[in-house]
Amino acid sequence: MRIVILPDAADVACFAAQELAGIVRGKPDAVLGLATGSTPLGTYRHLIEVHQAEKLSFRRVQTFNLDEYLGLSSNHPASYRHFMNEHLFRFLDIPLEQTFVPRGDTSDVEGECQAYERRIVEAGGIDCQLLGIGSDGHIGFNEPGSSLASRTRVKTLAERTRLDNARFFASLDEVPTAAITMGIGTILEARQVLLLATGQGKAEAIREAVEGPLSSSLPASALQLHPSATIVVDEGAACRLQRADYYRLAEQQRRRLRKEA
Ligand code: GLP
Repeated sequence: MRIVILPDAADVACFAAQELAGIVRGKPDAVLGLATGSTPLGTYRHLIEVHQAEKLSFRRVQTFNLDEYLGLSSNHPASYRHFMNEHLFRFLDIPLEQTFVPRGDTSDVEGECQAYERRIVEAGGIDCQLLGIGSDGHIGFNEPGSSLASRTRVKTLAERTRLDNARFFASLDEVPTAAITMGIGTILEARQVLLLATGQGKAEAIREAVEGPLSSSLPASALQLHPSATIVVDEGAACRLQRADYYRLAEQQRRRLRKEA
């Protein structure tokens, strides 16, 4: 794993946006896996700036979001479809029919999950999957205990996750109790993964994901199995890492080698 420690959340957002923009520059029909939550908001703002400043086109890009609350329709203000339209898609030139988010209000949940997996395969697989991390170490909505081989399916939300996400709803009672989420197996098939975390509230989850044992009890630790995973954290989220000095050294060397090349 590549661990990038940056001074603050703005640097994390800038780094991630440059990575995503670089992928689209190199492959105009790239398939991007996208995430919701507060963490990627800055990344999306930067990406919109790059799109506008450089005229970087997303016309041929396809996107797949990690998850959606079960029972919420796409126009519910707390749905992830609504979040993506509001914070990213409406500012880009990407046709909305090339943006996929699981349908939370489907009457055929099993069929929706299978169709989602099929669509990812038909698109040629995900080039880069953006991820946040829950305070309990979840990725997407793969709560602790999720099979490391899991595919898109329904997961019951942990109470801690419902509490963490209650700020997006009028009250805790309104937070759905389940979600459709890509599985950990699905996420691991992306050609590249980029996990972002900011703030001390994520420090323990990051320490366990990066330096703890590989375990379904800490779903993000599954990224230890991925051949091309980059974890981008600010100083707050990095503060519990035992080998932070080594990661900084490795990044310095990486930059030096790139300059020499
Ligand atoms: C939700 C999402 C995750 C996200 C997590 C953390 O649970 N399903 O994909 O990583 O929230 O969100 P935040 O970035 O707001 O801390």
